[in-house]
Amino acid sequence: MKKITIIGAGTMGNGIAHTFAQKDFKVSIVDISDDNLQKAVATISKNLDRMVAKEKITSEEKIKTLKNIDTTTDFNQGVANSDLVVEAATENVELKLKIFKDLDGICKPETILATNTSSISITQIANVTNRKDKVIGMHFMNPVPIMKLVEVIRGKQTSDESTNTIMQLSKELNKIPVEVNDAPGFVANRILMPMINEAIYTLEENVSDVEGIDTVMILGMSHPMGPLHLADFIGLDVCLSILQVMHEGFNDEKYKPSPLLIKMVKNGELGIKTGQGFYDYSDGPRNKRVADQFKK
Ligand SMILES: NC(=O)c1ccc[n+]([C@@H]2O[C@H](COP(=O)([O-])OP(=O)(O)OC[C@H]3O[C@@H](n4cnc5c(N)ncnc54)[C@H](O)[C@@H]3O)[C@@H](O)[C@H]2O)c1
Repeated sequence: MKKITIIGAGTMGNGIAHTFAQKDFKVSIVDISDDNLQKAVATISKNLDRMVAKEKITSEEKIKTLKNIDTTTDFNQGVANSDLVVEAATENVELKLKIFKDLDGICKPETILATNTSSISITQIANVTNRKDKVIGMHFMNPVPIMKLVEVIRGKQTSDESTNTIMQLSKELNKIPVEVNDAPGFVANRILMPMINEAIYTLEENVSDVEGIDTVMILGMSHPMGPLHLADFIGLDVCLSILQVMHEGFNDEKYKPSPLLIKMVKNGELGIKTGQGFYDYSDGPRNKRVADQFKK
């Protein structure tokens, strides 16, 4: 594995690119938006600065990491000669199916096609390609440079060889991979999203306010951050898409997204990435204030 292509330069794409580049892989990031590509490189640079300040890496390592990254809006150019593609575009089934069909047509036959999807079936994605044995889930956690887990998801026809390659590669990135089977939401979001959804229902029914709900879970359950803050961190649009995939996939009302979540996504209140979610981030992502509408 020498060249890695990341499709999508959003919250996850920039973190995945950062992680590979820091381990000296050559990384191309592809996005339809030049603006998002520029923001991704700026975010990576800022995050590397923070690591230098904390003496986790040297400034030479920062320069080397940035040199390993190039960006393009030209899909063909970005994926040419890639040994591995990690798709981290918007969580939308139709979009991902189209991307994988295109990737299958352009990439070398031996290229492994991985997706960072949070919930969409790996088998369904693999079925639009002629390399079902080489399609796999590589589900990084946010923020990627810090979080240790990679959920490695096998589709029905993913080969042992592809699985072993991705498990080994995850270890080379200093991550801890866990192999799981294909089911809506896999393991992480199957358990996490119902909790976040329930926290939003609890807010909607005025059982407590935003800070109250998050404080109960932080102090009472020893969670490092509350579920509403975590939802802002993930992106409320991403949470909604995952719940919709699980609601349809299991045909079970217990995964039905809460009306407040749907309303906030419609209003463009997507969390940290838009500066407004359950908390207000207009002072920056690390300085959250409780959003006015949820103050008692
Ligand atoms: N946000 C999280 O905490 C989190 C965690 C784990 C996995 N994921 C998954 O990672 C994926 C990306 O999520 P995100 O939060 O980074 O989303 P995001 O909205 O921050 O970024 C998505 C990016 O994809 C780009 N894009 C859209 N269509 C494209 C195309 N055809 N080609 C190239 N780029 C395209 C968009 O321009 C945008 O920059 C999703 O599948 C999501 O479920 C998200």
